[in-house]
Amino acid sequence: MKPSYNNQISWRAPSNIALIKYWGKKDGQFPMNPSLSFSLEKCHTEMSLIYRPASELNVNFTFEGNIKTSFGDKIKKYLTSIAQKYSWMNELEFEINSKNSFPHSSGIASSASSFAALALCLTDLITSKENKPNDFFEMASDLARQGSGSAARSVFAGYSSWGQTALIKNSSDNYARPLLNNIHPSFLKIKNVICVVDANEKSVSSTQGHALMANHPMKEMRIQQVHQQLENLLLILESGDWNAFAQLVEAEALTLHALMLTSQPSFILLKPNTLNLIQEIQSLRKSGHQVCFTLDAGANLHLLYDPSENQMIEQKMLAWKESGYLLNAIFDGVGSGPSKLA
Ligand code: PMV
Repeated sequence: MKPSYNNQISWRAPSNIALIKYWGKKDGQFPMNPSLSFSLEKCHTEMSLIYRPASELNVNFTFEGNIKTSFGDKIKKYLTSIAQKYSWMNELEFEINSKNSFPHSSGIASSASSFAALALCLTDLITSKENKPNDFFEMASDLARQGSGSAARSVFAGYSSWGQTALIKNSSDNYARPLLNNIHPSFLKIKNVICVVDANEKSVSSTQGHALMANHPMKEMRIQQVHQQLENLLLILESGDWNAFAQLVEAEALTLHALMLTSQPSFILLKPNTLNLIQEIQSLRKSGHQVCFTLDAGANLHLLYDPSENQMIEQKMLAWKESGYLLNAIFDGVGSGPSKLA
């Protein structure tokens, strides 16, 4: 089958924040445990893919107009592996341009939104060359997963889960599924401000962290506990119980970092200002505010809050910047999912 020539496909895909964390892999790019997240609205990647015939698969990658060889090499490796199934891709040259809505050096990982955007472009391309898949977004999620696990969840709007579990019908390790029902309205309008405390590259990458779970002394305990956490969170998301949500989400974030602390070798991604902000947020909650935090594999903190707290949060961001706790605050919320660009 010969592809048509000189075509361009562009998609925008959101970043996401996990409430139940994927940490550790089975063989290949499959999760050790199920995870659950929501997609963000404002933090996203826009990617455009131009393809033309060539003697072999080749990739030219630019990020915001600049050639990025290291990510370009990663994408070439990824496309070469996808081309094992779609052999016509081996006779294409790809020109890929990417840009992010979030600032440079913000310490926000862009692999989820980047691989989701790329996978959506690829799903479009594959769909135009072969029989249409049963489910476009399921296929995009599967392709995104092969680039970066958490990207599997970034092809959907709102809440989604990834990873096989008896708790979610039709769940799979291959792709994520959107959680369309049973989310209380108060959790659909939840706000998220990314509190950037450190904009440097992490000392230990997620890939290294996942690998350390293979022989982690608490691996079995974690797998058992995370299923229980997921079961509880699904009930909480349905009930709208803010306090139960806050406690579970924070416990899950701290468990992620506890797993890092107890890995062999151990590593610490938290910074003093992460801990300062955790104390601030917990004391706000003790005084009755609907706020809580979660953490990714890094020092930056996602502050989650009910929109009724907007004004207080804006003031806090200014105060925390002044006191030196915070470098930057990026305001966001639950997102409406990816979109195809003209
Ligand atoms: O997708 P990766 O390999 O960058 O791993 C992401 C891991 C966490 O962000 C810590 C958790 C998650 O589920 O997103």
